[in-house]
Amino acid sequence: MVHLSRRTVLLAGVAWAVTEPVPNNVHAQDGSRPSLPIPAELRAGAGGTIRLDARLGSMQFVGDRKTATYGINGFYLGPAVRVRRGEKVVAQVSNNVPETITMHWHGLIIPGAADGGPHQVIPPGKQWQTELAVDQQAATLWFHPHSYPATAQEVIRGLAGLLIIDDEESDRLPLPSRWGVDDIPLIIQDRRFTPDGQFFDRMNYIAVTNGYVGDTALVNGARYPQARTARGWIRLRILNGSNARSYALAASDGRSLYVIGSDGGLLANPVELKRLLIHVGERFEVLVDGRDGRAFDIVTLPVTQDIMRLPPFDGPLSLVTIRPEGADGTGQLPSSLAVLPALPRQLPPMSQELVMNMFRDQQGMMPLKTAGLMEMVKSGKTDPAVVARVVSLIVTDPVLSPTDQLSANGVNGKSFSIERMDFAAARNRDLRWRISEGNDLMLHPVHIHGCQFRIISRDGKPPEAERAGWKDVAPISAGGATEILLRFPHPANRDAPYMAHCHILEHEDSGMMTQFTV
Ligand code: C2O
Ligand code: CU
Ligand code: CU
Repeated sequence: MVHLSRRTVLLAGVAWAVTEPVPNNVHAQDGSRPSLPIPAELRAGAGGTIRLDARLGSMQFVGDRKTATYGINGFYLGPAVRVRRGEKVVAQVSNNVPETITMHWHGLIIPGAADGGPHQVIPPGKQWQTELAVDQQAATLWFHPHSYPATAQEVIRGLAGLLIIDDEESDRLPLPSRWGVDDIPLIIQDRRFTPDGQFFDRMNYIAVTNGYVGDTALVNGARYPQARTARGWIRLRILNGSNARSYALAASDGRSLYVIGSDGGLLANPVELKRLLIHVGERFEVLVDGRDGRAFDIVTLPVTQDIMRLPPFDGPLSLVTIRPEGADGTGQLPSSLAVLPALPRQLPPMSQELVMNMFRDQQGMMPLKTAGLMEMVKSGKTDPAVVARVVSLIVTDPVLSPTDQLSANGVNGKSFSIERMDFAAARNRDLRWRISEGNDLMLHPVHIHGCQFRIISRDGKPPEAERAGWKDVAPISAGGATEILLRFPHPANRDAPYMAHCHILEHEDSGMMTQFTV
């Protein structure tokens, strides 16, 4: 039995009438804007089973062209699976797309055999069933395929969804929690389309070094949609579900974003920000004050990834309009949220180093330098000639052979191999790991399976307040290093090891992943 709440709208292939690019920072007043699709909530029914069906779909993203998509229980993306701490559910995943997939529960602390990593393959037409015993605090997690080396393409097509954990502690807080009313999921992704309206997807040197570069922002699968919400405090559950792009989020009218939760759960106290940087794979829960009933946009500002500053991401770009125009909301912003254990004064000894390597940096970056990208970014002015040259590299640079793709990146000097176990981690013990990068200076949001961790330091300094809570993604960049404190409560054996990898999916699919047992 599956309960669908009344307010929710399935992510379905509803056509809409966006025909021209929407200008930045303009509130369109006409009715031609799509509504923000709210993924349906999906809870385990009496039988305790959650059924996810990966299937083919089609959507209209550009004009009247139909884009072939993948979706989970729908045409694009998936439902918001909701589980409670203490609950044991059976997840049953059917693969009805024409390629092998897996289904990974990103951020869920479960044994390797249930994790849905690259070893738990689901061939086309087959099913995979696994028990998920939920024992961690309330959090906004997500699920997505983890097929090696095809995660990037499967996510581009639309396979991903939210996995929300509820618990008693968070129930006791007066947080906005009416789904689609004042508790609003925002899955942010960027895509590029081919002239015939299909998802652009090309694994060339530009992609394996820079990651996927879209030119269209989607929120829950819609272009610049608008959400009508309660008038009051609004909770945004934000997932950066893009393959490679970071976003610097802000409200168009400068109102504050109060971060209440990070990847693995609530923070100790809200963190008030005007600009929130979110990397791929990361989630933040944010409260915004909509008691004035005035509409505003969530915009993204330019980020430090050079290639991600191509238009329309070269200035503030509106992602979604929030219209707090409905009935009065009842949610509040509490001043304290959750108890976060303090980091131990005596840290455990360093037990693992993870160095992200890019072996083909030159091949990917030189053409961009020659095209003038870095100069352009430094100048702060968009030059259409440079943009045209860079875009042409993105779309025409030759596709790599499988061997070239799989050896382009690595961890600790080696590209990923599904046969090789790279190390073993101790179970049920506090561990300290250090994550850094080799000679490249690029951003790598590094994700580790089987745990929620705490960031001890980044480049020798304490983490930003919004990253001081439970995390499963740790960013490194500019030659820096991040130290984390982690613990694995469950086993992961040789047949079902955990992964640690860069969550830039094109890096992951080209070797920047390592596997380990617990
Ligand atoms: Cu979200 Cu190993 O992945
Ligand atoms: Cu994961
Ligand atoms: Cu990376």
